[in-house]
Amino acid sequence: MTHQEIRQKFLDYFSSHDHTVVASSSLVPSSIDESVLLTTAGMQQFKPYLMGEADALEAFGNIRLASIQKCFRTSDVEEVGDESHHTFFEMLGNFSVGDYFKDVAIPLAWNFLTQELKLDPKRMFVSIFAGEPGIPKDKEATEIWKREVPGIEIREQGREDNFWGPPGGKTGPCGPCSEIYYVLDSGKEIELWNLVFMEYLKDEEGNFTKLKQQNIDTGMGLERLVLILQKKDNVFETDLFSPLLETLHQLTHLVEHKNDLKPEQLRSLRIIADHVRGGVFLVGDGVTPLNVGRGYVLRRVLRRAILHGRLLGIEGYFLLEPVRKVIEMYGEIYPELAAREKEIQAVIEEEEQKFSRSLSQGLKVMEKMGKKVDAFVLYDTYGFPLELTQELAKSQGLKIDEADFEKKLEEQKERARSAAKKREGEAEQIAPQHTAAHLLNAALRTVLGPQVHQAGQHLEVDKFRHDFTFDRKLDDADLKKIESLVNEKIRENLPVKRVVTTFEEAKKLGAEAQFSEKYAQVKEISLYHVGDDPKSAFSKELCGGPHVAHTSQLGRFEIIKEESAGSGVRRIYGRAVPFASET
Ligand code: ALA
Repeated sequence: MTHQEIRQKFLDYFSSHDHTVVASSSLVPSSIDESVLLTTAGMQQFKPYLMGEADALEAFGNIRLASIQKCFRTSDVEEVGDESHHTFFEMLGNFSVGDYFKDVAIPLAWNFLTQELKLDPKRMFVSIFAGEPGIPKDKEATEIWKREVPGIEIREQGREDNFWGPPGGKTGPCGPCSEIYYVLDSGKEIELWNLVFMEYLKDEEGNFTKLKQQNIDTGMGLERLVLILQKKDNVFETDLFSPLLETLHQLTHLVEHKNDLKPEQLRSLRIIADHVRGGVFLVGDGVTPLNVGRGYVLRRVLRRAILHGRLLGIEGYFLLEPVRKVIEMYGEIYPELAAREKEIQAVIEEEEQKFSRSLSQGLKVMEKMGKKVDAFVLYDTYGFPLELTQELAKSQGLKIDEADFEKKLEEQKERARSAAKKREGEAEQIAPQHTAAHLLNAALRTVLGPQVHQAGQHLEVDKFRHDFTFDRKLDDADLKKIESLVNEKIRENLPVKRVVTTFEEAKKLGAEAQFSEKYAQVKEISLYHVGDDPKSAFSKELCGGPHVAHTSQLGRFEIIKEESAGSGVRRIYGRAVPFASET
């Protein structure tokens, strides 16, 4: 059975049991759910309904739901490369939002595995929650299992294994669970399907209270199910990965040796496969590489994939082909990947170019460091994620001083914060000159004509330089008129206001902008106007600020000098002299 057929069987089965199929939500959780960085379970998009805060019937037309959810977990990232761990995976799940409970959920799951998929019942056993102070042992689940599958092995396990949620760990819906295990030919036991009997709410204080309703939340890893059904030893041999590995074998010229690879080669290939697949899905959902948050998760997997490419002897850029392969393999199931193919390629290629350059240098520097590996230098100068350095160090039997890394990182952040504060302070200081320059620009257009436009500007704390298009020298009368007009506007004590608008709107208002085409790309732009109503305001310019709040804060304005600044361009040096600074 192909993975497409397995997906379809799952969805058809639950549809035929009155469930509504809901599409996977994004890997980036909705902004209402701040509890997790990335989507890690199928229930996440249904959280408000499971909590009884929103009406599933209204939203989906049903309170029985099923989905195949894109998930990304970083908890196992170190283990990727073995037989069964992944960052990105897909979760098959059925949900009851206050509808059926354990007595229906258990036979539904069991029958799907044994009747639809024909899995051998003798290869399976289950677990139930053993109980803890405050939350009783799940006798009910035991009874149901015994009744449904006489003689099945039932293991009792504690909180660690058999109590699920809330995702993120802090607050949210949760409950005891029952897991169905499958024993592979090798004897390895894999946790196949987790049935969560969600009836508790963990509150801020860590107490468990009963939810308004009893829900079912189940999750079965597609990768594991496919592995079992395709009778493979590991996920990388299933059709969820094999075409991608084929591409990687070709790329690394390991294709003739693919049946006798060294363990570290095999591990590197699997890491690349997992991380490229995960990276493609993250970028597909709008994540871009950064040093914080989800962007860091993406950066980490991409850079780790690049490192393992290097360890396999690939010298140049290589991610483009595997990226294309992933999109080809999954683009039909997840149309967002196909639709954003170009963008996904561009983001990943850019990250590869950025990191490849410094990777070789960083590796050399690391070698020179000997036993005292400075993870911060590698991070800061060569872009090595901490975890990457740790992995490299470990492979050489070395240890990283993590506390030292954290300390240096914190110091660097503090330096950045101080610098930002200083910049802000400086920007505030030039605000009076900045507003005066806007008034001057408007006065020039009023006095000399609307053909005059700003052609350059330089602001200082106590003066400014303003260049504008005009084809002759200004005489004293012009300068007097202009200066007086600016001072008149200062005396009127007009408010200086900022509005966020669109480029089109700003154009309609007749706003001045120096680099129109630069702004045309941007959806929202900031416009400053001097005078109450943006329509009739004396000055309106597209500008990032900062400015003073009222023109009286400028004190008075004077023109210091007028001169030529090239053909067709004049220059005025001017200054606002706030009263406070005149003492
Ligand atoms: N939400 C449950 C899990 O992730 C099903 O295992």
